[in-house]
Amino acid sequence: MGTYLDHAATTPLRPSVVALMTQSLLTQGNASSVHSFGQRARQVVEQAREDIAASLTADRNEVIFTSGGTEADNLAIQGLYSSRNRGDEFKRPIVISAATEHHAVLEPIEWLVANRGAQVHLLQTDINGHISLTELEQFLAQNAAEVALISLMWVNNETGVIQDIPAISRLAERFDVPVHSDAVAALGHMPVDFAASGLAAMSITGHKIGGPVGQGALLVSRKTKLDPIFHGGGHERGMRPGTLDPAGSSALALAVKSAVADLPAEVGAWLELNRRVVEGVASAVPEAILVAGELEVVSERVPNIVDFIFPGCSGDSLLFLLDACGVAVSNGSACTAGVTSASHVLLAMGYSQRDASSCVRVSLGHTSTESDIDAFLQYLPEAYERAKAAGFTS
Ligand SMILES: Cc1ncc(COP(=O)(O)O)c(C=O)c1O
Repeated sequence: MGTYLDHAATTPLRPSVVALMTQSLLTQGNASSVHSFGQRARQVVEQAREDIAASLTADRNEVIFTSGGTEADNLAIQGLYSSRNRGDEFKRPIVISAATEHHAVLEPIEWLVANRGAQVHLLQTDINGHISLTELEQFLAQNAAEVALISLMWVNNETGVIQDIPAISRLAERFDVPVHSDAVAALGHMPVDFAASGLAAMSITGHKIGGPVGQGALLVSRKTKLDPIFHGGGHERGMRPGTLDPAGSSALALAVKSAVADLPAEVGAWLELNRRVVEGVASAVPEAILVAGELEVVSERVPNIVDFIFPGCSGDSLLFLLDACGVAVSNGSACTAGVTSASHVLLAMGYSQRDASSCVRVSLGHTSTESDIDAFLQYLPEAYERAKAAGFTS
């Protein structure tokens, strides 16, 4: 079957989720219909909403179902931008974010710049991927009246670095600016408490936690106003129209519940595996650099993501060579027409173009075992030598 160490891209469905979803697919009736079929379908959706809210310390009305993290990010960014500028056209054109964000955040912002008069202010990060609260405070002190929103991810999906989201929310609140966070890589890998976070909006997705692809949610705090980006019905408090999906919502809810319940045990297991990877790589390839390696695992970096730079080789080559040995890992870069491109995240953290093209991410999930790590470590030295010999294509 091979060795799967790319859980941050997507992780296998939990068997309990498959069982529930299969059963829920037979739910008959449109959840918006008033007859009893409709009411039963609605009950399934509302129970799912309640379960997600309870797992994330939110109110049930704060859970807006979406088709995943990308839609949740788009809805948060475009919806907040629109509502913050409603009535006084583009009086608040500034969107604050960081260059280390996922494309699901960066591209909606770019779209607002190209089409809705937005101005983007990207915060610098240090070599560990942390923004500076002082820089943010100084910027807000001078520009808060013109800021529509801040969007900063809770955990970076390439490096696993945790951003201090509650501190960012507290700071932004002083300036009356709403904060959205993409918590896709955080959920199930560190404690996520929506109420305590102080966030206006938070994106989650199912397929990173053992739920189905195509099921996610945007949590929107009760005091936050957010315009819809789709139009066509009053579903989801008017923020996200479309027929409700009982099977998908209940599957997402079970994945969220299970991921949150399993977190304490998983953290312990991932920590062990994380150590095994880090120590094994240090001994097999001593020149490898552990990205954000000075940060404390668990409190500053999630334990399920380990990102390395393997100097002198293309991350793409290493990935393909490991794949040929049956080991699936990932790198942050997109490979376009055989030309290696660098990870935009590592570039934003201050790494050179070369280093940012030489990264490989190992990511763990609920099915990971010691033998997965051992298979990776077994093939790594030879794959690295061959990848170095192949050189770079750009
Ligand atoms: C941090 C982050 N945000 C958003 C997404 C997009 O989520 P989805 O695949 O559910 O659209 C991903 C998935 O790769 C991600 O890692």
